[in-house]
Amino acid sequence: MTQIADGFITVAKVGEIPEGGVKVVRVEDQPVAVFHVNGGYYAIDDLCTHDGGPLAEGTLEGEEIECPRHGARFNVKSGEALCLPATSPVPTYAVKVVGEEIKVGWAAIDEKLAPDPERPGAPAPSPPAGEGSSPPPLDASSDAAGWSSTAGGAPASPGAAPSQQEFAIRAALESVMDPEINLSVIDLGLIREVHVLPERTHIRMMLTTPFCPYAPQLVADVTQATEAVVPNPCEVELMPDPWSPDLMPDPGLLGYSF
Ligand code: FES
Repeated sequence: MTQIADGFITVAKVGEIPEGGVKVVRVEDQPVAVFHVNGGYYAIDDLCTHDGGPLAEGTLEGEEIECPRHGARFNVKSGEALCLPATSPVPTYAVKVVGEEIKVGWAAIDEKLAPDPERPGAPAPSPPAGEGSSPPPLDASSDAAGWSSTAGGAPASPGAAPSQQEFAIRAALESVMDPEINLSVIDLGLIREVHVLPERTHIRMMLTTPFCPYAPQLVADVTQATEAVVPNPCEVELMPDPWSPDLMPDPGLLGYSF
C-alpha cells in the first residue's frame, strides 16, 4: 500500500475488487474491509462490533454484510448495525478513486480510532450532524479542489480547515462518477458548495453540460453518498453556471479520460 500526502492510502487497483466483492487490507494493523457495491467502494472495520467476527468472510447481499459468526448484519455504506446481536455501528472510512487506484482515508480512520467509553478499545461512532462538539468553521472561499463549505449554519471563516463532516462528504463523493467522462464529481469540480446544517445538508452542484442526461442519476448518487456520511436529508441544488475544466482541481485528468 502507498501512503500519500493527503491522508489517503492506496489499497487496491480498480478492477481488483469485483462488483459484489471485498478485499481486506491492514492499515497500521487495523483490518479494513473494502467492498465494491453498486459501482461504489466502501470501507469498514473488518471486525464485527458484537464479538470481533471477520465481517468480510460473511455473506454480502446488496449493501448488507452478515457476520459469519452469529449473524449480525451491517450496512457497508453507513456502518449501521441492522440486527442483533450487534447493537453498535461498525466504523466506516472514506474511500476515493484516483485514476486506477482505490484509496482509503487513513486520516479519517485515525480519528475514528479514538476510544469509545461505551465500548473500550473500539472506535467511537461520529455524532449526528448538529450534535456534539461544534465542527470548526469552514473556509467560505473555494479551496484547491473548488470547494466552499459552511458547517452548522455558522458563518464561515476564511482560512479555516473543513470539518471532519465536510471532509468525509468530500471523500465519499470521490466515488460518485460521471459515467460520460468517467471521472468523479470531485475530480470534475462539480461540487461547488457543501453546507452541513443542523437538520439537513445542502450541496450546490454544477453539471458538465446544461442538459446532461445523467443529471438525475448523479443527483441521486450524490444524495445517497452524502446521506451515508451525515444521516440528515441532503438537498442537491443544480447550479445554472457553465462548467469548464478550469474548475477541476487537476484539469490534467481529462487527458486520461478522453
Ligand atoms: S461476532 Fe458478529 S454477530 Fe457475533
